[in-house]
This record gives sequence, C-alpha cells and structure tokens, in this order.
Amino acid sequence: MEFEKVLRNRASVRKYNGRMPDDETIQKVIDAALLSPIVRWHKFHLSVVTDKEVIQLAEDAANEYAKTKEPRKFMYGAPVWIILSGERHTDNDPVTEKMKNDNLFWNVGSIIENMELEAVSLGLASCGMNATIVAVREKPEVKKALEVPEGYDVLASVLIGYTDDEPNERQVNYGLIPVSYVK
Ligand SMILES: Cc1cc2nc3c(=O)[nH]c(=O)nc-3n(C[C@H](O)[C@H](O)[C@H](O)COP(=O)(O)O)c2cc1C
Repeated sequence: MEFEKVLRNRASVRKYNGRMPDDETIQKVIDAALLSPIVRWHKFHLSVVTDKEVIQLAEDAANEYAKTKEPRKFMYGAPVWIILSGERHTDNDPVTEKMKNDNLFWNVGSIIENMELEAVSLGLASCGMNATIVAVREKPEVKKALEVPEGYDVLASVLIGYTDDEPNERQVNYGLIPVSYVK
C-alpha cells in the first residue's frame, strides 16, 4: 500500500472480526518494530500474545482495576496483543537518568507506531492499548503469563487484527498540534 494511504488509513479500531493473522503476517509486524529508530541503551522485550486465556487474564485485571460494574471488553476481541516491556533507568547520575528515561518514551512511541503502520499496510487494523497495561503493571502473575522479563515494566501495547469496518481515509487535522514555522 502506498505510504500516504497507510498514514491516512490508520485509525484506532475497536471492533475485530475474530480472524487470526497467520504467523508470517504477525512476524512482519514484529519486524517493523525491529526496524524502528531507537537508541541502543534501553533493554526492551516484546510479548506477542495470541493465547485467548492470557488475553482474558489481562482483560479481567483491567475490569478489576477500573472497578467496572459489568465486565467490559477492553481488548475489543482482538486476536493479537503485542506488549512492549523494558527497564526503567535508575542511574546514579540524575542528569543521565532523566535523559535516558525521556528517551525511553520516544523509543516506545517509535516501536509502537512502526507496528501500527505496518499493520495497516498489511490490511490489518490496530489500536494502542493502555487500559490493560496499567492494570497488569501491579499484577506479577499476569506479567509472568505475558513472559515479561523479571525487573521489566510493561510500557506500551498494541492490538492487531482484522476488522470488517471500512477504512476511513482521514484528512489532516490542522488543529491537532499548533505548529511554528521558524524561517
Ligand atoms: C498512548 C496511547 C494509549 C492508548 N490507550 C488506549 C486504550 O487503552 N484503549 C483504547 O481504546 N484506545 C487507546 N488508544 C487509542 C487512542 O484513543 C487513539 O489513538 C486516539 O483517540 C486517536 O485516535 P486515532 O488513533 O484513531 O487517530 C491509545 C493510544 C495511545 C497513543
């Protein structure tokens, strides 16, 4: 798919049709993460979860965390959930600690965005997913089920799957971020 179309067709999709992407397709999304522009001083890990029971564990944790009266489908029935975990920095030097942790956010964004764009180019849909991440952060047993390495924090995640929703080619929202052109 043409890159401009990928950019304009990407949107957070909250309705999946249950079709499981094949392993090769999932691997392409992971390859996109591994092609992202990241500085090399962070230790990261990706968990690619297709086990429905494990996804349910996280959804249960999110319902508990959000104290929902009726169980909510936080994961929208997506068949693939990719979690990025990593180490937060605790250097002796507060300047390098702050710089590294600031750069951590930047790197996390790059990795997630590369996966979302690759998903669109492959005809998949995606959705950034923080609701279940915050919920599993304090749940060691769920982190274990997600194979998050010891000492790593869950940082971000993305849902991937097929949807029957038609892509809506979006227009640029010029009000989204104020821009200064310093010429
Ligand atoms: C950091 C981050 C966390 C998000 N967490 C959630 C979430 O927990 N649940 C959800 O439905 N969407 C989540 N989203 C999707 C956003 O709501 C969505 O990106 C935003 O509304 C803009 O819409 P768009 O992606 O269609 O452009 C998240 C997106 C980002 C970037």
